[in-house]
Amino acid sequence: MNAYVFAFLIIFQAVFIVAFVYLFIRYTNLKKTFSKYQRGLCGLLKTINSVRYGNLFERINNETLEVFPKLSKSVNSMIESIVDREDMIKEYQNDLNKKIDVLTEVEELKEDFVATLTHDLKVPILAEKNMLSFLLDNRFGELNEKQHQALMHLKNSNKELVELVEIILETYKLNETKIELNKEEIDANRLIETTIEEMRPIADTDNIQINYWTEYQERIKLDEFYIKRVLKNLILNAISFSEPSSKIDVALCNNDKNIYIKITNYGKSIKKEELKHVFDKYYTTAKKFRKVGTGLGLYLSNKIVEAHKGKIFVESNEENEKYTTFIIELSR
Ligand SMILES: Nc1ncnc2c1ncn2[C@@H]1O[C@H](COP(=O)(O)OP(=O)(O)OP(=O)(O)O)[C@@H](O)[C@H]1O
Ligand SMILES: [Mg+2]
Repeated sequence: MNAYVFAFLIIFQAVFIVAFVYLFIRYTNLKKTFSKYQRGLCGLLKTINSVRYGNLFERINNETLEVFPKLSKSVNSMIESIVDREDMIKEYQNDLNKKIDVLTEVEELKEDFVATLTHDLKVPILAEKNMLSFLLDNRFGELNEKQHQALMHLKNSNKELVELVEIILETYKLNETKIELNKEEIDANRLIETTIEEMRPIADTDNIQINYWTEYQERIKLDEFYIKRVLKNLILNAISFSEPSSKIDVALCNNDKNIYIKITNYGKSIKKEELKHVFDKYYTTAKKFRKVGTGLGLYLSNKIVEAHKGKIFVESNEENEKYTTFIIELSR
């Protein structure tokens, strides 16, 4: 081997070693940088996940900040704005809760006011009722035909007023306590017939005829006072929403388990979309027909029948012959 070749080999070896050392150092640096970035990414992910699960105190750490300065600052300011929004939402929520409290208080005051007013109205109305009875009994002297008729009209209006006041009072009572039933075995036919007789003078005013059919003769256990109120409500509705000079059919029938009291009036029907609202509190279309109505009659009737573990159904036919039937189902 000559001297040139030997020198070349030595130089080549030296270059190779330098290149190897250089590459090794680069590799080690790259590895360090890679793991720094890896830790940075893990830091980012940890913070984002932590915020995702509601920890708004978490921020990007310094090591990640060094590696991804812009991204980290954006994430940190994003968390700050979430915190601000959260505070704003809490403030809104507090405001809203305060407003709800005030509204509830106003609502309670309003209900108390209406209940007290209605209750106080009852006294003069009942006094008027007694006075009218005295007058009609000729206790203050003989009445002529016209005077008698005028007083009869007044008596009917007074009766409607008493019923209206009673319905409102009953509803307020119902809000505070549950209906307490006093059930007794009674003759259902007698109950329905006497109720119809009581309602006949009101039906007569519009020349409406009330018919009654029965196929049930046994006694049934129920609270007479409350069921009479339901029957009166349903018959009064049937009269109010009937065409003048039409008829109302009342029927009592049964199957093995239940009895059914059906009250049908003709001429006006209830639209399909209104059917589901008729038992709602305060739902009334009375104003449309220039009548006075609280929209509590059916609400109360439904509650009373429910207290008896029964049901009230309504059927209404809009086509051809218009009619509306309310059906009370009570177990035997
Ligand atoms: N027999 C019926 N025929 C047609 N529509 C009826 C009949 N009964 C009830 N409705 C409808 O259901 C609504 C609610 O009846 P509900 O008895 O609860 O209140 P109201 O009769 O309007 O007022 P209130 O009974 O309190 O004086 C009525 O306004 C009416 O639109
Ligand atoms: Mg009614």
